[in-house]
Amino acid sequence: MPCPLKGIEVGRRITISNGVIWYGLREDAWVLVAPNRRSKERCLLIGKKEKALLDEIKKGRGVVEEDGLDGDQREMARNWLRPEFQILEELKDPSPANSPDELALSVFQEYMSARAMEGRHDLSDYYRGEVVDSGTQFEEVEMTVSHLYRDPHPALDNMSYGARFARVIMDKGGLREDMKILEVGCGTGIFGREFLREVKRSAPAIYGSLGYTFLDISPVLLKSQRENNREHRGRVLFRIGNIQDIQGSGAVYDLLIANEMIADLPVVKMAKGDEGEGGQASEGWAVGRELGLDFSDAPPLFILNLGALRFLVALRTLLARGGTGYITEYGSTWAYPKAYHVTNHREYSIHFGHLTRAASTLGLEARLADLPGFLGFRGDLVVLDSLCHRSLFDHLLPFLGIQAVSSRVYTREMLSEAIPDILPGLRNLGFASLDTQGGIIYPKGFYVLILEKKGTRA
Ligand SMILES: C[S@@+](CC[C@H](N)C(=O)[O-])C[C@H]1O[C@@H](n2cnc3c(N)ncnc32)[C@H](O)[C@@H]1O
Repeated sequence: MPCPLKGIEVGRRITISNGVIWYGLREDAWVLVAPNRRSKERCLLIGKKEKALLDEIKKGRGVVEEDGLDGDQREMARNWLRPEFQILEELKDPSPANSPDELALSVFQEYMSARAMEGRHDLSDYYRGEVVDSGTQFEEVEMTVSHLYRDPHPALDNMSYGARFARVIMDKGGLREDMKILEVGCGTGIFGREFLREVKRSAPAIYGSLGYTFLDISPVLLKSQRENNREHRGRVLFRIGNIQDIQGSGAVYDLLIANEMIADLPVVKMAKGDEGEGGQASEGWAVGRELGLDFSDAPPLFILNLGALRFLVALRTLLARGGTGYITEYGSTWAYPKAYHVTNHREYSIHFGHLTRAASTLGLEARLADLPGFLGFRGDLVVLDSLCHRSLFDHLLPFLGIQAVSSRVYTREMLSEAIPDILPGLRNLGFASLDTQGGIIYPKGFYVLILEKKGTRA
């Protein structure tokens, strides 16, 4: 399907998009929230008449013929027909095999992302110096799937993300006594805490003999990791450092996990056919050759996940023989990296086709799984859709001065517990299954690269 335009459409028919919600402040005053308006003013106060029109539109299942409106209503409706209300629906990860339109669009986005980029993009300084607080970082700046599912959730069989991760690895026989585990890029530390809680609960002997190291570049986040893991004292170690600088510190880890962090590693811009020496791209070409990558399907300008590829080299060094690495991130099996903006910085999606190929060249056994399948996410679970989530949490709740509610993937039941006083006054909240548009971040589109270093531990 070509990319559909959704929203309040200009023309004879008026559609109220799912992302536009309205909330009753008083009997005669409502707040209309349109998250994708380009202006800063995303919450509009509206009166009774306008609210009546919204209800009319909603009655007609979100669509009303302009011909059926009286003069005033038409004026109001026209006011909402401005292009800034239009919402460009997010594209699903297209498959090149069955959708030439989406393939063309993807290649265009890959090319435009590369064109807009300076030669090299590295977030090390950002993480080292600009992260000020672990709470705001993952609540406001950059949400991760693991953060959204940090508490037990019905989508994961009432387990938290970290606990479920441990469960899946244990079910595969991947944890043994005396194991050394390294987590790289550990955020708040809640993933690790939950992982360890599950091991402690279901395999106390393994828990009692393991060592779990948190490695992070950010002093602020490392502090949070330490605080959140007090209960695991004796089992945990904390190490500050940049994974890009970790070399030759010995093949000691039996398990290495990097959850949603490799999109933070450096990327480099490359021009097809220009392998000139000395430029910033020359390292990219060299790594590409060394790791057996094929760039023949790349657009004329493209981006390479240089840091993520180098990370595989580090992982091979750090893993003991017989050890396994799990790397999760957002990306595609075939598309070149694309930019996405995360509040105060930019990240780039991962070309998992390149990573899988590179891992094989490095002699690692590589398997790629989709994250929903790997963790067993319940795809049919109905939750608040992403646009309504943003309307509510980014705009309406702050507008109403309510800040204490944290971001989660909300089912109706969870929402009625979280905002019981507000919920009855809300209209047009959209819900969708996790498989479609449910949840603020869709786990669909995330992958898990599983890497094994063959052999037996010395
Ligand atoms: C997007 S957050 C993901 C956090 C966590 N794993 C989660 O799932 O919520 C990326 C994490 O990686 C860390 N990080 C970024 N670049 C790093 C690097 N070069 N070396 C080590 N840690 C890094 C950040 O400080 C942060 O903790």
